[in-house]
Order: sequence, then structure tokens, then C-alpha cells
Amino acid sequence: MGAREGTDGTAGRGGLRICVVGASGKLGRYMVRHALERGYEVVGVCRERSVGKLEEFAGRITVVPGATDDREVIARAVAGCDGVLTVLVPWGVRGYSSGTAQAVLDHAPAGARLVFSCGWHITRDGEDRYTLRLRAFVRAFGLLARLARIADVDDQVEACRRIFASGTRWTVVRGSDLEEGESQGLPVWSRHVGDPVLASNLTRRVDFALFMVEALTDDALVHEAPAIVGRGTASARAHARPA
Ligand SMILES: NC(=O)c1ccc[n+]([C@@H]2O[C@H](COP(=O)([O-])OP(=O)(O)OC[C@H]3O[C@@H](n4cnc5c(N)ncnc54)[C@H](OP(=O)(O)O)[C@@H]3O)[C@@H](O)[C@H]2O)c1
Repeated sequence: MGAREGTDGTAGRGGLRICVVGASGKLGRYMVRHALERGYEVVGVCRERSVGKLEEFAGRITVVPGATDDREVIARAVAGCDGVLTVLVPWGVRGYSSGTAQAVLDHAPAGARLVFSCGWHITRDGEDRYTLRLRAFVRAFGLLARLARIADVDDQVEACRRIFASGTRWTVVRGSDLEEGESQGLPVWSRHVGDPVLASNLTRRVDFALFMVEALTDDALVHEAPAIVGRGTASARAHARPA
């Protein structure tokens, strides 16, 4: 199936053309909303079976249906984009996450801003300090998910290793535990898990998406792997530096 073009003529008012890879998921749809609010032209990639989940955006975005690790699908979707927002998820045991990241790294236009989502369990420099509880959870979930062939957390690690090693203008946004609810504003962030500002370990999903979209135009986040937490949480209120 071919790409579906937006038809209301408003595309690109904000000056950026961006692609959301994994647009039909919860995080993806919030990102599409934030991007449209900024007047960006949006291309969304999602599985064919999930195109209906983007119905609310009909006529306002271009949808490229297909697997996010399909290199041909990604090449088509990211063509001409200034930025790419990628939801990295390690579904299955066939390298879905690393395949998705590699396709974006290989096919995004040179100089494009590439922003990827993942969780706190990803470490860039090994300087993160995890609680025993988080380590135990990641280990147990990783083992069970792999045994059941549902997901391969190690493949998300591999995806991020490739991103960190790439010569692109990347940002890897590391999400805390998530909840639904109204926006509290832009999350606060730290380079390392274990920083007291992150102790509350909770972010509204709508604000995770906001951080991803803001990162597109924040050059201070190029080559950073910010670990985020909700602005309204107790730890953020106690420890965040004033803006
Ligand atoms: N959930 C958390 O508590 C949490 C915590 C920290 C960080 N994060 C990060 O946040 C991001 C979004 O996670 P989320 O949990 O909120 O999920 P989400 O936004 O709902 O996204 C899930 C994505 O996975 C796709 N998907 C689902 N099943 C699939 C399958 N079998 N094969 C291929 N794709 C499939 C979905 O596509 P369809 O619409 O086609 O189903 C959707 O694009 C991820 O990068 C995750 O690492 C999540």
C-alpha cells in the first residue's frame, strides 16, 4: 500500500518535516499531536493493521504503513525529513529494535535530528546507578520475555549501541516509569540514573512525548542520552535547577 497524503494544505507551517516511526502506539500518537500543534508536517510509520489508530489525524498526516524495521518503508518515510522520532521497542526475538534503529540511521537525510525513545535501563557510559529493584526487574523481565519469545531487551541495548556509535545527530531519551494524565510540562532530565532529581521515577506519557518533540529543536541535546522524570514529581520539585 502506498503513502497516504495529508490533504488540508496546512503541512509544514512550522517549517519542519518530521517522521514518527511507531506513530500508532501511545507514545507515537502523543508525539504526532505535539508535532501538529507546532505546525510541523508529519509522516507516520506504523504496522498496516494499526493504521486505523491514526484515524483522528486523517487528512493532517501522511501515513506510511509497514514494519518499522523494513528498510524500504523507512527509506520512503524519512525522505526529505528534518527530524525523525523513533519509538524503540524490542518486540520479538529477531532484532526488531536494532533493525528499526539501523534503518533510520542509514536512511535519514544527512544532518537530520534523530530522537529515539527507550527506558532508563539503557546506559550510555556505564555511570548510571540503578536500584536493586530496577536491576532485578529488568533481568527478570528480560529473561521471561526472551523465553516466551515476546521481546528481546538485549536487542534494544544493541540498537542504542549502534545509535551512540553513529555519526548522526542523535538523542536517546530514556523514559522512567510512565503514567497517563494531563501534562505537567517539559520533564526534567539528568545524564545519569541515580541522580536525586530522578528519584520519583515517574513521567506522564504525554510529557515523554513532549520531551521527544522538543529535542528536535534543542541542539543542547545532540549526543545526549537524557534520563527524564516528570516536572511535577516530588524529586523534580526538590532537586531541579530553576529554568
Ligand atoms: N511502558 C513503560 O512503562 C515505559 C517506561 C520507560 C520507557 N518506555 C519507552 O517508551 C516507548 C514507548 O513505550 P510504550 O510502552 O509507551 O508503548 P507504546 O507507545 O504503546 O508503543 C508500542 C509500539 O510497539 C508497537 N508494537 C506493539 N506490538 C508489536 C509487535 N508485536 N510487533 C511490532 N510492533 C509492535 C506498537 O505498534 P502498534 O500500534 O502497531 O501496535 C507501538 O508502535 C518505548 O521506547 C519504551 O522503551 C516505556
